[in-house]
Amino acid sequence: MRIVLLGPPGSGKGTQAQRMEKRYGVPQISTGDIFRKAVAAKSELGAKVATYLDAGALVPDDLTMSLVRERLAQEDAERGFILDGFPRTVPQAVGVEEILREHGWELDAVINISIPTDVLVSRLTMRRVCPSCKTIYHMVDHPPGPNGLCTVCGTPVDVRPDDNVETIKKRMAVYSAQTAAVVDYYRKKSALIDVDGGAERDKVFDSIQKALEEKRRSRERRQ
Ligand code: AP5
Ligand code: MG
Ligand code: ZN
Repeated sequence: MRIVLLGPPGSGKGTQAQRMEKRYGVPQISTGDIFRKAVAAKSELGAKVATYLDAGALVPDDLTMSLVRERLAQEDAERGFILDGFPRTVPQAVGVEEILREHGWELDAVINISIPTDVLVSRLTMRRVCPSCKTIYHMVDHPPGPNGLCTVCGTPVDVRPDDNVETIKKRMAVYSAQTAAVVDYYRKKSALIDVDGGAERDKVFDSIQKALEEKRRSRERRQ
């Protein structure tokens, strides 16, 4: 199973990728998570990307591509993967095709989670994330346990540094200016599955599973 998950900030990519990882047994590869981990570890990569993340801007394509190339070369990606928040520019979409070709792989589906923009700010300002197991919470409709502890592993949950109103608006603008074109790119290739991200979490996951199953069946019919 090789999947690309697209969608604006706060559309639920991470929430759905975590469910898909469990259901399909393939790793979630989130470029945002990789960058944040590098910043937290104060690594060389972290020093290079911190200013972009803080500003809500995209990390340059060459840096992002070399990181994804390395990640896809790891053993666990051989079984498949869910690319969460990548590609985010048309050059990245073209670049990943080349990497796939080198491995002799093809994407099974590109899923686009759409969502009305007016709910995104509240989703993101209310988000909390477990720094240890990465479980994603929402203070109103999916809160962590007592004292803000992760219900899965007991670690105190965090606010993401880029989840402030100013940076959220910047990320939304960057999405419209640079990432919306990636949706068109895949739509033209007829590879896109549209999912309504405004529905309840489990319903969104149901739609994704049904669409993937339908796609698998139609591929089998063609063979
Ligand atoms: P990244 O980490 O990818 O952030 P993003 O795209 O802004 O998306 P988010 O992670 O904020 O949202 P999400 O869609 O995962 O939503 P979630 O499931 O958490 O990127 C961060 C930064 O890294 C970028 O700004 C850039 O600097 C850099 N970067 C990353 N990739 C890059 C690339 N390829 N190239 C260049 N730079 C890159 O859910 C959000 C909230 O909503 C949560 O509270 C959740 O509980 C809630 N929620 C989810 N689903 C539902 C639902 N169905 N109903 C109600 N609430 C819901
Ligand atoms: Mg995410
Ligand atoms: Zn946890």
